Amino acid sequence: MIFSSLLVWIQVLILCVSCDSGPLEDVVIDRYDVPKICPREVQMGDFVRYHYNGTLKDGLKFDASYDRGLAVAGYVGIGRLITGLDRGILGMCVNERRKLIVPPHLGYGSIGVPGMIPADATLYFDIILVDVWNKKDEVHITTLEKPSNCNRTVQDSDFVRYHYNGTLLDGTYFDSSYSRNTTYNTYIGMGYIIAGMDSGLQGVCVGEWRRIIIPPHLGYGENGAGESIPGSAVLIFDVHVLDFHNPKDSVDIEVIYKPEVCNVTSKKGDFIQYHYNCSLMDGTQIFSSYDFKAPQQINLGANKVIDGLELGLTGMCVGEKRSLTVPPHLGHGESGARGIPPSAVMRFDVELFHREEGFSAFLQAQVKEGKGRFLPGVDREKSISDMFEHQDRNNDGKITADELKLKTEEERVHEEL
Ligand SMILES: *[C@@H]1O[C@H](CO)[C@@H](O)[C@H](O)[C@H]1NC(C)=O
Ligand SMILES: *[C@@H]1O[C@H](CO)[C@@H](O)[C@H](O)[C@H]1NC(C)=O
Ligand SMILES: *[C@@H]1O[C@H](CO)[C@@H](O)[C@H](O)[C@H]1NC(C)=O
Ligand SMILES: *[C@@H]1O[C@H](CO)[C@@H](O)[C@H](O)[C@H]1NC(C)=O
Ligand SMILES: *[C@@H]1O[C@H](CO)[C@@H](O)[C@H](O)[C@H]1NC(C)=O
Ligand SMILES: *[C@@H]1O[C@H](CO)[C@@H](O)[C@H](O)[C@H]1NC(C)=O
Repeated sequence: MIFSSLLVWIQVLILCVSCDSGPLEDVVIDRYDVPKICPREVQMGDFVRYHYNGTLKDGLKFDASYDRGLAVAGYVGIGRLITGLDRGILGMCVNERRKLIVPPHLGYGSIGVPGMIPADATLYFDIILVDVWNKKDEVHITTLEKPSNCNRTVQDSDFVRYHYNGTLLDGTYFDSSYSRNTTYNTYIGMGYIIAGMDSGLQGVCVGEWRRIIIPPHLGYGENGAGESIPGSAVLIFDVHVLDFHNPKDSVDIEVIYKPEVCNVTSKKGDFIQYHYNCSLMDGTQIFSSYDFKAPQQINLGANKVIDGLELGLTGMCVGEKRSLTVPPHLGHGESGARGIPPSAVMRFDVELFHREEGFSAFLQAQVKEGKGRFLPGVDREKSISDMFEHQDRNNDGKITADELKLKTEEERVHEEL
């Protein structure tokens, strides 16, 4: 019977492994647990980190990396390890488990290791690979998701705000910006962050998701960092870029709609009325003046709103629509404001409704809003011209931005967007 003779054979084989039928020729490798996804297999010259339990034939443990709480690390295939391991680890992937049987001549031979491994011992290893890289590795970038509209990408000296999840190759989590409820904010290409991140974030666009894999020589090296990043570890960063800007940026103005006749445009000193929507670059809505009946109104140059908005509302004709991108130094700066994170870039969609020359119109509107009153029985224009003289602090016949500060405004500077 074929079947029963097979069974006999299997029994003989099992007996032979457990009986002393002379030493094995080569390492016996049992790949008993191989991950479905194996992007990389260990090759000669790679550096690996692995955990293992080592036992002798009688089951006696002679060593276990777990007892030291530290994975074993070293180069493979170049004679730094016993030959049995050099051969037995080749071709492994991260998170693979193998059982190795190493005959004495590929282990510690007829000498053994005094006090640990007897002479002529066959060694039984149970191994799991946790990390692999090569000295020649560079930063590896995979784009996970890229917005179709990507007109500008990160370059050296840009300031980037991003979220990240950090894991080791075997999936162990080591850090995440989300755990601090705040983005990681940094300049790029100036050495403020590990070299691998500095180069891994080059060319990224706003809203992009990227995976950046960093070998230890471009990360935290042989020493690792803190409690959670071991020495010589490969790091995986999954990154989501919320926004970036350059300190040299001015307001970026995109004209969305311009009326055919556009002879007169807004300038410093003009009284204007406008509507706007404000959001962050990831689309988070911050404010909409449409939620209120009346449009916003200011005197351009009066320092009532952030500089970026003043700039962006200048040179517009009535009916024009613009989309403004305002960097933080012309917005709410490093400290942010209500709903606006520190150093955030803002987006304003504005529409100009009304424009009038100068101071008088502004005061009339303030009065209409109940923010001030003219004295009864007093000529209004006379009153305005008196106020003009009062505001024209250096009497040069013009009211500059610095001079034009009504009491209510001085208390309210930048309180609104
Ligand atoms: C080694 O032994 C420990 C404790 O018995 C076990 O938790 C671990 O999974 C073993 N490691 C390997 C690689 O088999
Ligand atoms: C980006 O560039 C494309 C063409 O290159 C243009 O059509 C689009 O309007 C630009 N978008 C922005 C936000 O500048
Ligand atoms: C982050 O926010 C969540 C929910 O708002 C809160 O439970 C958690 O304590 C915050 N963590 C930190 C570090 O502020
Ligand atoms: C980080 O992990 C959390 C939880 O799994 C996930 O919601 C978030 O999108 C991840 N972020 C990145 C940048 O991968
Ligand atoms: C605007 O300018 C055009 C020529 O550029 C002129 O024909 C037109 O009369 C002007 N309109 C007003 C309201 O000034
Ligand atoms: C602001 O948002 C509202 C509602 O989404 C929209 O109707 C309006 O046109 C937007 N205004 C501008 C200037 O984009």
